[in-house]
Amino acid sequence: MSKDVILTGLRANNELHIGNYLGALLPIVDMARTKSSEYQINLFIPDLHSFTTPIDHSKLQEQIMQNLRVFAAAGLPLDNDNVYLYRQSYIPAHSELTIILNSFTGFGEMSRMTQFKVKGSKVVALPVDELKKILNKPRFEASVGLFDYPVLMAADILLYKAKYVPVGDDQSQHLEFTRDIAGRMNNKFGDLFTVPKSVKEQHAFFGKDQGLRIKDLQDPSKKMSKSNDSDKGIIFMTDSPEEAKKKIMSAETDSLAKVTFDPENQPGISNLLQIHALLSNQAVEESTKQFTGQTKYGEFKAEVAEVVAKFLGEFQDSLSKVDDNTLQSKLESSEKSMNEVAQNTLAKVQKAVGLR
Ligand code: TYM
Repeated sequence: MSKDVILTGLRANNELHIGNYLGALLPIVDMARTKSSEYQINLFIPDLHSFTTPIDHSKLQEQIMQNLRVFAAAGLPLDNDNVYLYRQSYIPAHSELTIILNSFTGFGEMSRMTQFKVKGSKVVALPVDELKKILNKPRFEASVGLFDYPVLMAADILLYKAKYVPVGDDQSQHLEFTRDIAGRMNNKFGDLFTVPKSVKEQHAFFGKDQGLRIKDLQDPSKKMSKSNDSDKGIIFMTDSPEEAKKKIMSAETDSLAKVTFDPENQPGISNLLQIHALLSNQAVEESTKQFTGQTKYGEFKAEVAEVVAKFLGEFQDSLSKVDDNTLQSKLESSEKSMNEVAQNTLAKVQKAVGLR
């Protein structure tokens, strides 16, 4: 019997930050290190998803290589045959399945996707007179690629029959859509797809690492995101330990003078506690207990900064040792194997819809 698949992808349109690391990379790397005898692990770069929002295209190739190095430095075992590492665009079945699934996807259901609404409406931040000029051209900044993004993501997951998909909270809606479209196709055409587990079951499977939302340090009402205006609230995996410490020390907190895990009333403090807990490999309750009774945020922040700096120091040491040739040969062998798997699923779909 083939193994259940655990799969995730991280885009390469910018440097990875600790939100990406904690929300998606750490859980899959943990699984690859501890559970690869029971599960197949697929980690890929959704490179076709890179330009759903504007990027500098001349930098994409180098960023893809850099993110692959980050995966290796984070501990992805490249010598493990149950671990596959690949680039989406090297497997044409992703694009082809997307085109087919598009015709079974509602315009309305895509319009309701939060990510599309948020990223497609940056226009709201414009001055009023600018806004007036373009109000009759709604979503002028949003591309069809952004609109269709969840369908491509569903194809990424369904081609490999993935059951478990570690992602941050911002991707939960896309995961639910993947389940919807898989169920819809199965109802219409018989057993075509493996339906991934529900978000709740994913939480149970991955435990503390699943469905996270690490917040921006400067504005803890927002998630830490490469699309935020300023880098001050974002800790990139390539920030020096000193830079990262400074960012933690200037993180926005509150004036309540207590350290409790209460994301609603103390979002800044809770975010720091969460980061501390995950990087110390302990439950957030344990980190909270460690700081209970502290009234001076400076001391608390200094300890969080220490944990972050130590983590980054070790990580960057590993990063400098990653061998590009090893990465390249892993990509080639994985892309060959995964092309076969994806092509098999695609062929089944093509037959079911009458193309073959
Ligand atoms: P992307 O590239 O924007 O982000 C990669 C992963 O990082 C998670 N993440 C966070 N987690 C916690 N806190 C944060 N502040 C934070 N910011 C980002 C994201 O949730 C994601 O898991 N659509 C996906 C990429 C993708 C994919 C897939 C994922 C394409 N196809 C198939 C899984 C399966 C995305 O844009 O993630």
